[in-house]
Amino acid sequence: MSTVADLLKTKGQQVFSVSPETPVLEALRLMAEKRIGALLVMDGKQPAGIFSERDFVRQLAQDASFDVKMPVKKFMTTHLYTITSNHSVGDCMAVMTEHRIRHLPVIDSGDLVGLISIGDVVKQAIAVREERIGHLEDYMSGKVY
Ligand SMILES: NC(=O)c1ccc[n+]([C@@H]2O[C@H](COP(=O)([O-])OP(=O)(O)OC[C@H]3O[C@@H](n4cnc5c(N)ncnc54)[C@H](O)[C@@H]3O)[C@@H](O)[C@H]2O)c1
Repeated sequence: MSTVADLLKTKGQQVFSVSPETPVLEALRLMAEKRIGALLVMDGKQPAGIFSERDFVRQLAQDASFDVKMPVKKFMTTHLYTITSNHSVGDCMAVMTEHRIRHLPVIDSGDLVGLISIGDVVKQAIAVREERIGHLEDYMSGKVY
């Protein structure tokens, strides 16, 4: 099974983030501009939380006093599930499924080295499956012995 490191080689290591004081509207604009569903909230070099489309939608639905000028720190999820680059893509699927989350920051020895989403994991799993099917087809058609 391929690893998170393999996935990051294709996807890249850039992580889009905001500071805890960033107004929600600014964060939403960045998500729209980058076409992403979540931003890591960084307190200096330390991840302090994650702010996702879901956090926004829940807040909008539940809190009548919610204002997009408020800082993301009030609405971010502070309990971060993370993964390392040595973990497998299957491990990511398991964590995402168990905790019902879609984004995992990748942390190696305390350093942030990337962020992967459920779409990245599915894409990689499909690529591995297609490669296996290709090998099997080659084997069955006699192209490879
Ligand atoms: N074809 C592809 O390569 C590919 C890869 C991932 C997702 N998608 C599609 O995009 C749509 C939404 O994807 P999703 O639900 O996985 O979430 P998403 O929209 O948050 O993620 C889209 C892409 O942006 C990246 N991303 C998200 N937040 C980031 C951040 N803060 N910093 C750096 N990168 C960040 C993800 O890793 C992923 O590659 C789905 O339709 C999915 O199928 C396509």
